[in-house]
Parts: sequence; structure tokens; C-alpha cells
Amino acid sequence: MTSLLLEVLAGRAAPRPPIWLMRQAGRYLPEYRALRTKAETFLAFCYTPELAVEATMQPIRRYGLDAAILFSDILVIPDALGSRITFDEGPKLVPIEDAAGVARLSSVNLHAHLAPVYETVARLRASLPAETALIGFAGAPWTLAAYMVEGQGSKEFLAARRFARRDPAGFGALIDLLTEAVSSYLLRQIDAGAQVIQLFDSWAGVLPAPEFERWCVAPAARIVQTLKAARPDVPVIGFPRGAGVQYREFARRTGVDAVSLDTTVPLEWARDALAEWAVQGNLDPVALLTGGAPLLAEAERILAAMAGRRLIFNLGHGVLPGTDPEAVAALVALVKRGPIEQKDAR
Ligand code: CP3
Repeated sequence: MTSLLLEVLAGRAAPRPPIWLMRQAGRYLPEYRALRTKAETFLAFCYTPELAVEATMQPIRRYGLDAAILFSDILVIPDALGSRITFDEGPKLVPIEDAAGVARLSSVNLHAHLAPVYETVARLRASLPAETALIGFAGAPWTLAAYMVEGQGSKEFLAARRFARRDPAGFGALIDLLTEAVSSYLLRQIDAGAQVIQLFDSWAGVLPAPEFERWCVAPAARIVQTLKAARPDVPVIGFPRGAGVQYREFARRTGVDAVSLDTTVPLEWARDALAEWAVQGNLDPVALLTGGAPLLAEAERILAAMAGRRLIFNLGHGVLPGTDPEAVAALVALVKRGPIEQKDAR
């Protein structure tokens, strides 16, 4: 049996939308919380193939999702380039303040540092059934740069946005370094067994239009070009979270095969504006956190709005800690049931 996700991404009709969830592994699962105690730090956990494989497999075993996403984090790239990272109620990095800080980064150890990730991908592909697609991923340059300059998470990423305006050449050097690192990192993931790539630009939405083009669209276009030149058959999903009406320009200019929609995008708009692409999304993680009948009604609304279109069912952002694992089970069962007509016809 072939994978529903790969079918939809290849442009073919599937009997029902495939489903997977961003952050499908993680703290909402008791088995993850138990496993997490086996490594001292979160990054050590990510760099231990045995543990990362097990964390990836936990939601697959529990729910039979249509795709597994490599268990890792987007911040392993800054870590590998020399921005020291710790996790203490969210990521903490030594902030990069200027061009001299950018110049201190180096990609010489990139692949040696990330070798455990490639090992995790290889082990995963060997143990997953053929119908479960394996998704590799990376953070996009803007989002990675935003954390590296800010030194932590933020609502506005003002330090990064000021750096980009004050010294566009210096900031551009950081974006270029990240674009190269992300491209070669993703190629290695593909060579190790990743069948689909997702590029997370979680903070694309804080950029005004001209900067969105320069720091989000242009680097994503270069990454997709590099991947497509070397591995034309591997589909790429772009997630420029918060892009609004610029989702269309992003899809058109970058050459991605699909876009992952955040919760603010009306599906009635996406149906027309993004008709040429597969779309992924966009259930509100808060609906999943709340659960019950409204959750199922909300999922039905998405299925109905995208009927006849290439939909990959997912959330508009990651599963929130505190989500009831049973609510996830109910959601997966609903999407897997497929269209009512088909069920009656059987
Ligand atoms: O989706 C999956 O199941 C795969 C694993 C995955 C993680 N992070 C695990 C994780 C993926 C795909 C990510 C991506 C990621 N990481 C993004 C892009 C997607 C998004 O959410 O916007 C971003 C911005 C990060 C950076 C990051 N990592 C933050 C801000 C935090 C702290 C906040 C939080 O949720 O804890 C992390 C830590 C992190 N990454 C955890 C997990 C399971 C929690 C670590 C723990 O176990 O305590």
C-alpha cells in the first residue's frame, strides 16, 4: 500500500484526506513525558537516535497517523552553527548582535554535529510501514535568525527586525549562511530516508510585505530550488505562518508542492486562491485542546470546505501541552472515516 500523503502531494486524488499533526509527539502524551526523563537536556534527547526514534513512533502507534515527523527541533541548526542553546521554559541562546556575531558562526561542524539526526531518520524509515510517510523538516532562515538574534522566543522579535533594518547586509549574511545550512541539512535528511520535507517559518507573520519577500520568500525559493535540483521527486510543504494573502505569492514564487495554512486563513479563500497547490491545515489547536462535540464539528467544517480539493488534514499550529490524548484519537477517527457517501456505499 502506498502512502496517502505522498499521493495527495503528487497531485493524485485520495479516498480521504491524509492526517498528521504538527507537534504530534510531545508533552501532551504521558509516554513522551516518561521517555523524556531518560535524557538530561532536551537537545541531548534530540541527539540520541534511540530516544528520538521512540518519540517519533509514539503517536504513530497510538493513532495510526498517515505520516510520522522526525522528532527533533528547528533549533538544532543554530546549535550546530555555534549559537549555544539551552531549553529553560523555552529556548535560550546567546544573542547575535551584529555582523561580527554572524562572522563567528561556522558550518564546518554542521554535518558531524547533526549526524545523530540523520541516523534517527534512517532508523525511522527502516521501521515505519510503507503507508506511513516520513516527514523531515527544518526551520526556515528567517525564523531561525529571529531566535538567534533575539536569544529567545518573543511575540514581536524586535531585536531581529531592527538588526535587519539597521544592517541589511550583515543580517543578509546570516540569512545566507542559514539558507545554505538548511539546504544541505535537508538533502542529508532526504538521503537518509525522509520522503517529504516541511519548512517551518513560524514567525513569517511579523514581517511587512517587502521584508517578507526578502527574508521569507527568497530564501525559501533558494532552498526549494536546491532540493528540487538534486531530488526532484521529494515534495516540499511550506509553512509561512501568518502570511495572510501572501500565502499565494509564497506558493507561486517558492515552488513548494503544498502550503500549510495557519488558523487565520479562511478556507473559502484558500479554495480559490490556492487551487493549484495541496493545502495542509488548519484546525485551531485550541479547538483540539477544548475537545468534545465542537471539536468534531470544526473538523467536519474543514472537511466540507475542502471537499474535492487536495487537503492534508492538520492543525494550524502545533498540538498544545494539556491536550487530551483521547481528543486526538476522536479527531483521527473522524478524518479516517472518510466521506459519509463512501461509507454508505460500502
Ligand atoms: O512535530 C513534532 O512532533 C516533531 C517535533 C518538533 C518539535 N519542535 C519538538 C519540541 C518540531 C517539528 C518542532 C519545531 C519547532 N521548534 C518550531 C516550529 C513549529 C512551531 O511550533 O512554530 C519552533 C518555533 C521550535 C522552537 C521551540 N522548540 C520552542 C519555541 C520550544 C519551547 C516551547 C515548547 O513548546 O516547549 C521548543 C521545545 C520543543 N520542541 C519541545 C518539543 C517536544 C518541548 C521540549 C520538552 O519536552 O520540554
